[in-house]
Order: sequence, then structure tokens, then C-alpha cells
Amino acid sequence: MQVIIFDNAQDVAESAAEWVAELVNKKPNPVLGLATGSTPISLYSALVNKYKADQISFKQTTTFNLDEYLGIEETNKQSYRHFMNENLFDHVDIDKDKTFLPTCNQGENPRKQGLAYEDKIADAGGIDLQILGIGANGHIGFNEPTSSLASRTRIKTLSQQTLNDNSRLFAADEFQPTLAMTMGIATILDARYVLLMATGKNKAKAVKDMVSGALSAACPASALQQHENAVILLDKEAASELEDQEYYVWANMQNQKVNKEFGLYHNY
Ligand code: F6R
Repeated sequence: MQVIIFDNAQDVAESAAEWVAELVNKKPNPVLGLATGSTPISLYSALVNKYKADQISFKQTTTFNLDEYLGIEETNKQSYRHFMNENLFDHVDIDKDKTFLPTCNQGENPRKQGLAYEDKIADAGGIDLQILGIGANGHIGFNEPTSSLASRTRIKTLSQQTLNDNSRLFAADEFQPTLAMTMGIATILDARYVLLMATGKNKAKAVKDMVSGALSAACPASALQQHENAVILLDKEAASELEDQEYYVWANMQNQKVNKEFGLYHNY
């Protein structure tokens, strides 16, 4: 795991945007894995700014989102499709026919639909770079604690903590889904690179468990310890419970020296 600690959330977003630009501008037909939630909003706005400044084009890009709520239409303002349109897709030159979310049509077998999503990712050549946030309970995607580390795209029941954490986004009289279709942990681990963004004090405990806790389904994000190319971008608050902060800062300086000497090389 490469842990990089930034002064603030904006720097986390700018760094994540550089990672995306590096992939999208260099690789033909890049495949991006995307996340929703509060954390990546500033990443998407940085990408929109880059697009407006002619520094990036998404024409060749295919995207797969981590998750989508069950039981609400795509047109519902709470759907993750709506979120992606609002925050990114409507503002850049992406072909929306190449943007996918793990939706689950009513009346169709959800297991089959989950597997079909896996097939679609494989047909696109696999995910080059997966953007992730982390839940305060250590979830990635909607893989709640106790999710199988070998899980694939399927329906999950959201935990009470996740429902409470996300209730801020729903009006009192609005339906808050309790089920979602989500990529599994094994699906996420298949991505060539994963880039997890975490900001704010309320993520500090989950970040500590992910980085230096036991590899355990109790903290699904700890599965990233087994990923060859997992990069963790943190602001100071999210990093505040890490014991080895000085080491991460030092290691990052060394990495920058190596990158300067030999250039950046991502094995997409
Ligand atoms: C979103 C997702 C979730 C969020 C996590 C953090 O697609 O899969 O795992 O990344 O719940 O959400 P925020 O960023 O709102 O704190």
C-alpha cells in the first residue's frame, strides 16, 4: 500500500485528478472505476476543470461505477446515475453509452444481473484505475463489514451505520433505499490500480484499520492490503490515527525522487 498524506482535502482531490488524467490521456480506451459519495465530488469538479482547460478528454473512456441503489429509478435525484450525470458526465465529452452502473432491473434475477456486470467489465478489458471512498465502518463500495473478501457484484443490505451516515442526504419524507447492487471486494481487487480517497476526522479510525489493522472482513477496506497497486490519498485528519505518519511522509519524498529521476511509470 502506498499511503500519501496531504495538507487538505483539496490537495487529495487534485492528486486524484492527476492520476485519472495520467491514465485517460495516455492509455487508448481507458477503463475507469468510479465512486459516488461526498468525497469524490471535488475530484470530479477538478476533472471538469481540466476538461474545460483542454487538458483531458473522456471520448475514449469507459466507466463502471461501484454501486447503485435498488428500488429507485435512474431518473430519481438520489440515484447514483443522477449523481454521476450531475457531477461529471453532463460536463465532459464522455459517451454516456460507455458509462455503466450496476443497476438491477425489477423482475430479473439479481444474481444474473450481478454476473452480467462482471462480464461487461471483463469485455471492456478490466478496470485500469478504480476510484474508492471508504465508509466510517470500513466499507468499500457497499461491501459492509462481514462481506466476503471473495465477493462479486451482488445485492447487499446496507448496515445501520451506513444508513445513518447517508441519511443526511435524504429529506425526512424521502424514501432511503436499504439495498444496493455493489461490486464485490474481489471485483475491486481485480482493478489494475486502486486509488482510495479519504478525508476528515470521521474516517480516521477506518483508515487506521484499513492500513495497519488485521486483514479481515470486519474492515472490508483492509482487503486492499493484498492489492499490488493500492494508493491511499489522505488529508491530515483522515491520517490522524495512523501510527507511522512520519514514515509515510518520508517514503513519499523518496518516491518523488525516484519518479523525478526515472519518470512516472504506471503499468496499465
Ligand atoms: C460510493 C461508495 C461508498 C462511499 C463511502 C464514503 O459509491 O461506494 O463506499 O465511497 O460510503 O462515502 P462519503 O464519501 O460520502 O463519505
